[in-house]
Amino acid sequence: MAGRYRCRRNDTIPERVVTISDPCVPLDSARLFPQHFPLEVEIGAGTGRFLISRAQSHPAVNYLAIERMVGRARTLDRRASAVNLCNVRVVCLEALYTMYYLLPRHSVRCVYVFFPDPWPKRRHHSHRLFSPLFRDALWHALATGGRLEVATDHLAYFKEIRACMTLDPRFREIAPMERAPEEQTDFELLFRGQGLSIGQCAFQALPVENEPPLAPMTLPPEMLPKKSEE
Ligand SMILES: C[S@@+](CC[C@H](N)C(=O)[O-])C[C@H]1O[C@@H](n2cnc3c(N)ncnc32)[C@H](O)[C@@H]1O
Repeated sequence: MAGRYRCRRNDTIPERVVTISDPCVPLDSARLFPQHFPLEVEIGAGTGRFLISRAQSHPAVNYLAIERMVGRARTLDRRASAVNLCNVRVVCLEALYTMYYLLPRHSVRCVYVFFPDPWPKRRHHSHRLFSPLFRDALWHALATGGRLEVATDHLAYFKEIRACMTLDPRFREIAPMERAPEEQTDFELLFRGQGLSIGQCAFQALPVENEPPLAPMTLPPEMLPKKSEE
């Protein structure tokens, strides 16, 4: 297939689901992917409709999916294998931890967050992805000038994400990307099919003078698991 990066039939294709042997050692992109290309990350990639389409049309970019549900990570892996993509890997882990500890500093060109779980009940809002800790990890993972792309059908959550990102001086709002129909995610197809509006926004990481180190993660009490949820 001209213009697409496919493994040759006899290449040994490394497992696309990344094995984390030491959760304290950051991932090494040079060892994860066969070729050194810019790295883009999708958080909560689900079964990978967006990521796989993107990886096919952008063969000179490496794509890392973070998806905590094993079944979805496996399906994404299967879908990537079916089209023989070498530039896709999936980490089956919690996104905050992965962003905080496993992505090397300023190594990512773009982070995609499409249809993050909205946790609509007020008492569950602390489970939402866009916490101050997540913004710290996001800024440290993104290269200067790197982008965050967000889309969600949950307009109250969209407003909250946009507000917290706008107030954070380490980011500036930019125009969101345009996505081809084949780059719409599985949840997006469902929501668009129901006639729901979709909020989209994007932000760029700015340089910060005297960059503060990323302190060891301490979860605030509201983010700790409650007895009834353990
Ligand atoms: C609503 S689904 C959207 C899936 C996909 N982005 C789409 O639009 O079709 C949210 C996905 O994010 C994953 N997810 C939610 N929170 C996560 C977290 N903290 N770490 C990793 N994955 C997460 C869920 O397992 C689920 O697959």
